[in-house]
Amino acid sequence: MPTLTFLGHDAFLLEHEAHRLIIDPFLSGNPQAALKPGAIKVQYVLLTHAHGDHFGDAVSIARANNALIIAPNELAVYCGNLGLRSHAMHIGGAFAFPFGRVKLTIAHHGSGLDLGGDALAYMGNPCGFIIALGGKTVYHAGDTGLFLDMKLIGELDAIDVALLPIGDNFTMGVRDAVKATEFLKPGLVVPMHYNTFDLIKADAAAFVEQVQAKGLAARAMQVGETLTF
Ligand code: NI
Ligand code: MN
Repeated sequence: MPTLTFLGHDAFLLEHEAHRLIIDPFLSGNPQAALKPGAIKVQYVLLTHAHGDHFGDAVSIARANNALIIAPNELAVYCGNLGLRSHAMHIGGAFAFPFGRVKLTIAHHGSGLDLGGDALAYMGNPCGFIIALGGKTVYHAGDTGLFLDMKLIGELDAIDVALLPIGDNFTMGVRDAVKATEFLKPGLVVPMHYNTFDLIKADAAAFVEQVQAKGLAARAMQVGETLTF
């Protein structure tokens, strides 16, 4: 059975048998981070977009592990130009990797990479990931506002675990994330992208209660906690 470990903010480790993936590895500078980048042993680094709180330690982790970066095309090309192994994908496309299948979904957000000074690099569209491995399906929404196509995502794939942002300001807040959960009908929804910074303070307990009131399962994971599903 696959396991999912919450590393804080939007960072998750997904493991199944010998396969180890990290999603949005923002660890350095993340006040919630459960692990140091040097402690991460993975074969794959999945990136939803290029914002610092997602791109994070991707370069150092990929380099230290000779890991494959899986990202939207522009961001994957950028990583490739840095000498990293990368696999470019784009929205609507799926690919069967040795660990399982990954499909990119839309995410209503931005994806500029802050290069310091006055330089902001264009990194294409942000995405969400539908990851099928070990007979289970995880949806990591990335940073996004609510969109009606989440209904379609829930119709096309039986989502076992949905990881949804609830922090508001940059993404969905609690109310919209509850609606997203109703659209997706996942086996379990786990909130993310909240309480890392003052700007994205949110009440995860309220989110869990409101989802449960709709007859759906929700659980806020503690940083460092591992879920077997
Ligand atoms: Ni972002
Ligand atoms: Mn973010």
